[in-house]
Amino acid sequence: MRYLTIALAKGRLGKIFDIFEHMGIDCAEMRDKDTRKLIFTNEEYKLKFILSKASDVPTYVEYGAADIGIVGKDTILEEGRKLFEVIDLDMAKCRMCVIGPESSAELLKHKELIRVATKYPNIAKDYFYNQKHQTVEIIKLHGSVELAPIVGLSEVIVDIVETGSTLKANGLQVLEEICPLSARMVVNQVSMKMEKERITKLITEVRAYLQSKKDA
Ligand code: PRP
Repeated sequence: MRYLTIALAKGRLGKIFDIFEHMGIDCAEMRDKDTRKLIFTNEEYKLKFILSKASDVPTYVEYGAADIGIVGKDTILEEGRKLFEVIDLDMAKCRMCVIGPESSAELLKHKELIRVATKYPNIAKDYFYNQKHQTVEIIKLHGSVELAPIVGLSEVIVDIVETGSTLKANGLQVLEEICPLSARMVVNQVSMKMEKERITKLITEVRAYLQSKKDA
């Protein structure tokens, strides 16, 4: 039997390991934040876990280097890769929002030509151009995006809000909500056919785990 490869986003996975541990897969080594290892093998279940940067998970899955991936809906939308999204894991829940100082609310309302800084240019483009029909200039940043409106790089940002504490600490607020987000399980389109039985079994087990959590 060949290994099924599961790509996980490095860093924010605490709850996701709970799912695999519930199935009897030991994740202690992967949970260790100090480990430099990127590949973990489980001989009993013939599973291989790879830890990649979140934004690369859809790439590994589309090309079949991983059969399955677990990744945020934000990354799925931004990367636009060809894959099957099979389960909403109802974990790592947050919102994609347009954020700015209160003064920027008027600029949005009147559809002014504003600058939008973001780590998610494709999501921002789709929202402003296709949904709001507002022409904007999108500026790609790689992190600490909240800085942009404070130092005058942009009028607003498009970013994730989880607890809202980053916004608050920087005197910004949610001006518009784009969509809710959560972690999803995705599957390579060929693997879904070739490994149908094993993948369907895994999906069923994950669904049962999620249901048992809901019922508890
Ligand atoms: C994310 C996001 C916000 C923050 C939101 O940043 O870009 O900055 O978390 O969370 P909160 O609402 O709970 O405060 P991340 O931690 O990924 O760091 P980054 O800014 O370097 O991307």
